[in-house]
Amino acid sequence: MTEKGEADSLLVTGGAGFIGSNFVRYLARVNPQVKIVVLDKMTYAANPHNLDGLSSNPIVIRGDVCDSSLVEQIIREHHINGIIHFAAESHNDNSIRDAAPFIHTNIYGTYVLLEAARSHGLRFHHVSTDEVFGDTSVEDVTRFDESSPYHPSSPYSATKAASDHLVRAWWRTYGTRVTITNSSNNYGPYQHVEKFIPRQITNILTGRRPKVYGQGKDVRDWLSVEDDCRAIWYVYCRGRLGQTYLVGADNRLSNLAVVQMILRMMNRPLDEVEFVGGRPGADRRYAIDASKIRRELGWRPFQANFAKSLEATIEWYKTHESWWIPAKQMTELRYQQEGH
Ligand code: NAD
Ligand code: TYD
Repeated sequence: MTEKGEADSLLVTGGAGFIGSNFVRYLARVNPQVKIVVLDKMTYAANPHNLDGLSSNPIVIRGDVCDSSLVEQIIREHHINGIIHFAAESHNDNSIRDAAPFIHTNIYGTYVLLEAARSHGLRFHHVSTDEVFGDTSVEDVTRFDESSPYHPSSPYSATKAASDHLVRAWWRTYGTRVTITNSSNNYGPYQHVEKFIPRQITNILTGRRPKVYGQGKDVRDWLSVEDDCRAIWYVYCRGRLGQTYLVGADNRLSNLAVVQMILRMMNRPLDEVEFVGGRPGADRRYAIDASKIRRELGWRPFQANFAKSLEATIEWYKTHESWWIPAKQMTELRYQQEGH
């Protein structure tokens, strides 16, 4: 419960996706008295089974965040007093193929929710990414912080940057009570097999070779999804209004190093890696300075041992084949058509 009692009835958009469903599970565990209403369009990225087995079942509504009448109806009917906004088109490769759904959902959808928050006086938390800052060179040692300039590279990152700007404009212009988290790459259970870590694990489990873009030198700053969910909840409950908090765990590794760890953990030879065509405009390196959320809110990563959490993630995919197998073939077919 927030100190201001604002968590009684929470609208969680995108709650059937990767981070959203982990968040719903986290909240059901730490604050079971909060009523959770999930609004999710159930795109290819969602899986309704992500929310199975929770003791306090969330209300799940299939629908689009761009549908302002539906959003209005949900807020009234469920006496919503806060929104945590995860819903988005989230995969860079897809945004390069077709940016249209990214522009619609990520920008227009955020606008619809901000308007709803404004007219009902709701608290609004926006879940965003470090990709809004663009990249640094691989050799660089600097990290992004809350004052870093916005330089998004891909259509996906550009739409997330646009949505962050909208959120700040609603704070500055209308006084809507907003906060933003920009986190680095998440990993953990329930992540779609199109993303880097699950793709490599499930490739190995299905007899395919792990696929590394370019030479595998690009660097990502890996954050366990559970640590991100806790950060989001801390900011929702205790963050300063109008503020942005960067979330990262200082786990920077090249893509090749991560694949080699996975191969070792799965007892496969390192030369099984297949190098495939890279992404146009690929970001080289992300690095997060999370000092602000550590200092102001006392957040820190509980799963700071990346190797241990990666082992647990591999184990999760090994034991949840029925969850990911339905999406695997189509995902690989699509990658194959694009030379990835
Ligand atoms: P995801 O693709 O796994 O899930 C997105 C969810 O949003 C899906 O359940 C999907 O059905 C839903 N959705 C899509 N369009 C919708 C619409 N128009 N209306 C309602 N629901 C819709 O994504 P994720 O990885 O869980 O990311 C969640 C959020 O976190 C996104 O906003 C993303 O930009 C941000 N983020 C992700 C990462 C990461 O590493 N995955 C890192 C930082 C920030
Ligand atoms: P991804 O999981 O798509 O996240 P993001 O683009 O948001 O960082 O990719 C992470 C990194 O892994 C990125 O540098 C691209 C690379 N990559 C591969 O090398 N192979 C793959 O099969 C995929 C999906 C990504």
